[in-house]
Amino acid sequence: MCGIVGYVGARQAPPIIIDGLKKLEYRGYDSAGIATQNGKGIEVLRAEGKLVNLERLLTSNPVSGSCGIGHTRWATHGRPSVANAHPHRADGIVVVHNGIIENYLDLRDRLIEKGHSFSSDTDTEVISHLVEDFYRESGDFLSAVRKTLTEVRGAYAVAVLCEQEPGKMVAARSGSPLVIGQGQEEFFVASDVPAILKHTREMIFLEDGELAWFAGNTMTLMDLAGNPVTRLPKTITWNPAMAEKGGYRHFMLKEIYEQPRAIADTLAGRIPDDQADVVLEGLGLSDAELQSFRKVFLVACGTSWHAALVGKFLIEKLARVPVEVDIASEFRYRDPIVDEGTLTILISQSGETADTLAALREAKGKQGKAVAICNVVDSSIARESDGVIYTHAGPEIGVASTKAFTTQLVAFILLALRLGRARKSLTDERLGSIIAALKTLPSKIQDTLAACEHMEEIARIYAQATDFLFLGRGNQYPIALEGALKLKEISYIHAEGYPAGEMKHGPIALIDDQLPVVVVATQNESFEKVFSNMEEVRARGGQVVVITDCADDGLKGKADVVLPIPSIADELMPVLTSIPLQLLAYHFAVLRGTDVDQPRNLAKSVTVE
Ligand code: AGP
Repeated sequence: MCGIVGYVGARQAPPIIIDGLKKLEYRGYDSAGIATQNGKGIEVLRAEGKLVNLERLLTSNPVSGSCGIGHTRWATHGRPSVANAHPHRADGIVVVHNGIIENYLDLRDRLIEKGHSFSSDTDTEVISHLVEDFYRESGDFLSAVRKTLTEVRGAYAVAVLCEQEPGKMVAARSGSPLVIGQGQEEFFVASDVPAILKHTREMIFLEDGELAWFAGNTMTLMDLAGNPVTRLPKTITWNPAMAEKGGYRHFMLKEIYEQPRAIADTLAGRIPDDQADVVLEGLGLSDAELQSFRKVFLVACGTSWHAALVGKFLIEKLARVPVEVDIASEFRYRDPIVDEGTLTILISQSGETADTLAALREAKGKQGKAVAICNVVDSSIARESDGVIYTHAGPEIGVASTKAFTTQLVAFILLALRLGRARKSLTDERLGSIIAALKTLPSKIQDTLAACEHMEEIARIYAQATDFLFLGRGNQYPIALEGALKLKEISYIHAEGYPAGEMKHGPIALIDDQLPVVVVATQNESFEKVFSNMEEVRARGGQVVVITDCADDGLKGKADVVLPIPSIADELMPVLTSIPLQLLAYHFAVLRGTDVDQPRNLAKSVTVE
């Protein structure tokens, strides 16, 4: 987590850095800071809390300079405070860092013995002191940074300035993302593309162990040993407007309403007109390989893990291969049984989630094939996988994942169809009917959004509730989990998702007239069973909100609120049922006055284990 930005060029760095940090605030907002080379030295300004506090400070204490670095923090080592805010300074060396330095205590003790004194509780501060120590010995800024980075263990993306070396900056990465934007005689550095997209679309994605040395208007890429590295820039197709709110009150709302477009993009070029097969250009697996797998692991965190739970239904149903779903932070610690006959699929919006990246490395280390379902192009997970299905959702800025989730569901449908086709478990007829349904999906999403236009009123009815239960069955059980997670993370209301049939084994004890129960009941083979579960809730005084594609008027007397949505093939229904739950959580959060796009304690991209 944490976001870093850097600039070297002819323009004033502070507005570029602050603007970049705004785009990265989703990565953490416990504190923010900036440092600039102003011709006389380096000015550092830091503030606790959100970026707006730093902006206020800058109004009364403006800083200037055409070379600078900035940081927005998600606290790991040391509580949120000014002292723990980045940039960290040791004499003339100033550093911003994203990641965790695992051996920082050893390094710190060593440096204290040498006379260094520390002013924060962070792991990062050892980097500034170590660079300073080496620089004092050698007078060579670049080699001091290189030496430092060979001594630290853990994950880092760093940008470093040196007071005695005006106009110069070093940026490097290992395990945390870092992208370099190439402008006209100017360079930008950032943790993520949207931060610098308005200045350039030419981006260089550094690999682990690589470093960029900026001096004046030149950039040199090298590894930590100083060997030159060649890496051509890639042209990013996202446009800057995609990373703006576009008239919506929150990014989350904009991203919910973008879903028809986002899903059309996920499908684009992948379902040919003759409906014969799906095309997954980056998958990198032949029919023979797809046939050879005996087992599939789906591994992810949070919302992406919920997508994986739906993915299991799809793959087992359409491709008839056993699927195990794992939470990434658990996967590698249980010595999973992975071999050449195992396909591991990593699901990640950001492509940078540390636990998911570690799971990918575990699977590959055991000789299994690994492919990713990712949104962010050229992210670490995408690059390290054997193949990738990009979801093409566009930048997702709201911390609560919405369009990234539904596009992951669509990616799973495409993958399940591709696997099913290669494994000959899917008839032409079945494939054709699902593809035909997929083609209608963007417009069905549009209709679902229209059906949800009174969601704010529904949220108002239950605005005082302190707990919620979400129930679903089969492929709607993960959607119940996702509905509960959305509500928890942005409105801070306690919520649980449960398989509807499991309710009678415990959670039914919670039901009274204070507990709203949201039931996802779609017309599949378990519809009647879910309906009975709903009756069980009603019989105990629980208040039922049902989301259903059943247009039967008889339902009205069976639930307190019925929210009818369109119908589509059962394999695609989870995409539609997700939407009312996203909007429900959104409106609760707005009614409660929480920070919808940047909920407390969270960060968009969790790059620590
Ligand atoms: C989603 O609303 C969450 N903020 C979170 O659970 C997220 O899905 C999780 O951290 C995984 O992120 P990733 O998809 O970028 O790997």
